[in-house]
Amino acid sequence: MNIAITNQKGGVGKSTTAVNLAAALADHGHNTLLLDLDSQANATANLQIAPDDGSVRELIGGERPHIYATSTDNLSMIPATVDLAGAEAYLAKNPDADILKRGVRSLKKRFDYVIFDCPPSLGQLTIAALVAADYAIIPIQAGIWEMQGLVRLVEVLERTDTPLLGILLTRYDKRLGISADTYKQLKNSKLPLFKVRIPERVAAKYAAIAGQTILEHNPTSDIAHQYRLLAKEVVKHAT
Ligand SMILES: Nc1ncnc2c1ncn2[C@@H]1O[C@H](COP(=O)(O)OP(=O)(O)OP(=O)(O)O)[C@@H](O)[C@H]1O
Ligand SMILES: [Mg+2]
Repeated sequence: MNIAITNQKGGVGKSTTAVNLAAALADHGHNTLLLDLDSQANATANLQIAPDDGSVRELIGGERPHIYATSTDNLSMIPATVDLAGAEAYLAKNPDADILKRGVRSLKKRFDYVIFDCPPSLGQLTIAALVAADYAIIPIQAGIWEMQGLVRLVEVLERTDTPLLGILLTRYDKRLGISADTYKQLKNSKLPLFKVRIPERVAAKYAAIAGQTILEHNPTSDIAHQYRLLAKEVVKHAT
């Protein structure tokens, strides 16, 4: 099962969700692969992978990529490096929407879940990820501009024929009226919405700085618990 974590808006919690959903799926005993598709390489840094033996660039180039073990059992990764920006530029001139779908075909047999951490754009790598994905998850942060971006993204998912598994409200701060308003707005839309809401917690930042998943760094925190519940919802709905 290939799942793309995507939103063209920056800083909404895509990488945090990709890392911690992948870790929670792995914790539940599913053989999981995390694929970093962002040249910022935040997910790669979060899991402290030094891409000495190659990166996701090989996969995109049609070569067999090196798959790195992580400190979490059942969780492997293909990291990104800054040269992924070159792949995006190349694909902009030579579009090939199926490039990733071909690359991950063999991986799909080896892993129960392949999670794509997408970059904050609707560029070629994101389109390739959506074409390769069986489902998309859209993390969204409460705010006034998010709904506009969401409409555009949902149109893109229709074009790439990628089913939306769910919208995930992230960095949720229940003290802010805007958080509750966004949740209500999403509930009233016809779009699928995860029951789980990921709270705004400094534990998310500290775990990333420590180069660990939240589940490793702060396993008893409520945010770790919410990511575990998210994994359960994903397993239930992604069939
Ligand atoms: N639930 C949370 N509570 C507090 N901080 C969070 C939470 N989720 C993410 N963050 C922090 O917010 C910042 C952005 O998160 P993240 O990198 O996951 O977003 P992103 O959508 O992947 O960003 P980009 O678009 O740049 O790739 C990071 O510093 C991260 O540690
Ligand atoms: Mg990111």
